[in-house]
Amino acid sequence: MLKPVAAIAALAMIAACGGSGADESTPPAATATPAATVTPAPAPVAAAPVEPGVEFASLPAPYNTADYARGKRTFKLCQSCHLTAEGSGNLVGPNLHGLFGREVGSLEGFAYSDALEDADFIWEPHHLDEWLTNPRAYLPGNRMSFAGVRKPEDRLGLIAYLMLETGYTPVSGDAPAGDAPQP
Ligand code: HEC
Repeated sequence: MLKPVAAIAALAMIAACGGSGADESTPPAATATPAATVTPAPAPVAAAPVEPGVEFASLPAPYNTADYARGKRTFKLCQSCHLTAEGSGNLVGPNLHGLFGREVGSLEGFAYSDALEDADFIWEPHHLDEWLTNPRAYLPGNRMSFAGVRKPEDRLGLIAYLMLETGYTPVSGDAPAGDAPQP
């Protein structure tokens, strides 16, 4: 009993396929034209990922290529000691808001070690990269008990993340990100 039923079903399918195939051969030219006018209008990509402050793409290279999510993850290593929001205060370590462009060891109300107070530079991304590679070696005698972030791609992401979270603006001396002088 099953065999003839299957055969009929198969025949029905073949018939259906043959029929629709024959129909399709006629109209495609008519439908192609309106479809072509629809495609070139690209839907603007609205939802950027969580990137407060500066636009991610406007960060100086190579930070504009960094993996923000990786940076956010890597910041978990710091967040027991550092806050990044403006006015959110200090933990064991100083608040990092406005870090870029700030003199090292200069946040009012935080008791730095002599190592940081005596150091003399303005935080730029490349300083942070060296500091985070090996804090102890970069400013000997400092009190940040943290071994460092070994993987370069973790540091890249972390620094980009910090730029966005701490209100980065390009430091004079760095190539300005967006406003190159017009020739
Ligand atoms: C165990 C706590 C701790 C951890 C973890 C830690 N820090 Fe720190 N950090 C400190 C302390 C304390 C200081 C001040 C050091 C001093 O005065 O010698 C400091 C200083 C700094 C400074 C200098 C700030 C300034 O005002 O000049 C930066 C930048 C910094 N930390 C970034 C980070 C980042 C980024 C991470 C995570 C990868 C991190 N820290 C992890 C405790 C910590």
